[in-house]
Amino acid sequence: MVNLCKASAFSDLTPYEIFQEWEGIPVHRGFIVQDLLHIEMDYWKRKGVRGAFIDLDGSGGVCNTYICEIPAQGMTTPQRHLFEEVILILEGQGATSIWNEGGKKQTLEWQRGSLFSVPLNSWHQHFNGQRKDRTLYIAMTDAPVVLNRYRNLDFVFDNSYTFSDRYCGDPDELSAAGHYVDGFMRGRVWESNFVADVFAFEPKIHEIRGRGNRTTLFELANSTMSPHVSQFPAASYKKAHRHGPGAHVIILTGHGYSFLWEEGKEEEKKRVDWGPMSMFAPPLQWFHQHFNPEPSPARYVALKPYGAKYRIEKVRQGLDFDVGGGGWGGVQIDFENQPKDIHEIFVEECKKKGAQVS
Ligand SMILES: [Fe+2]
Repeated sequence: MVNLCKASAFSDLTPYEIFQEWEGIPVHRGFIVQDLLHIEMDYWKRKGVRGAFIDLDGSGGVCNTYICEIPAQGMTTPQRHLFEEVILILEGQGATSIWNEGGKKQTLEWQRGSLFSVPLNSWHQHFNGQRKDRTLYIAMTDAPVVLNRYRNLDFVFDNSYTFSDRYCGDPDELSAAGHYVDGFMRGRVWESNFVADVFAFEPKIHEIRGRGNRTTLFELANSTMSPHVSQFPAASYKKAHRHGPGAHVIILTGHGYSFLWEEGKEEEKKRVDWGPMSMFAPPLQWFHQHFNPEPSPARYVALKPYGAKYRIEKVRQGLDFDVGGGGWGGVQIDFENQPKDIHEIFVEECKKKGAQVS
């Protein structure tokens, strides 16, 4: 194996960036990907199929995403690695086998909209069982942190340690039905190892973030990463909020827009227009606010490199409170305190789409 530690010494590139060059597939950068289904990919020897990295500005170096296309009747090469990974199926149907070293294989059957995590350092292999069509999945991982820390590809990709405290390989361990965790995060945390379809999953009502808003947070496979699914009604918008880097918002349904800005720079707010399969990630502590000016609901999944079951960041008590209230202040901006032009712009956008603002 090539020596990443040696190659990255006194380099302007991080070990992770050098690793990406060696992998030889496209690296897409920027603020937003408009359509994940139409992104340039190339053959990725490590995976045995085509793929591409997507390193958005808002990832903040704490996580990355990559996309993989498995051809009809194709499969990926078996992998294991010392970074966590959460996967969302974007297109097609197939299955994933997961097993610990020397253990029995378990298989998850998935479709477009399935969401699951690969337990840390467990072997896994993805299959496309369709006769004619490709499957496409996107994964978020914390590979940048792990590769920059250890700088050793043998250690990260060829390590025999089994994390049996996370995944012991019992039959049906990964496919067991999920459940809401009582008395935690206002009852919005769904613990499971496999969500069959985030297009159809009914999220919990969460109107602290806006009228009719629904959001469920997922905890998967004892991972520190946590996706969530959110839906907001026709002709509505959510309150702005802010948090750490790396929350990758992937639009499932609807056409709308979001504003993103740094604290105190509302005048310079950035606008992204999105549709199904757009992806963007709000940068570290930038406020962001999502708008649905259409006469039908909008829905997205956010893949985040941090969750609620195993904390890797300090708990922010002000998660659901206005920045001006609650002592030291929260991380949300209530509607009455939002930038002045927000509502006027929204009303205009609704008019263009024929949606009725209530
Ligand atoms: Fe957010």
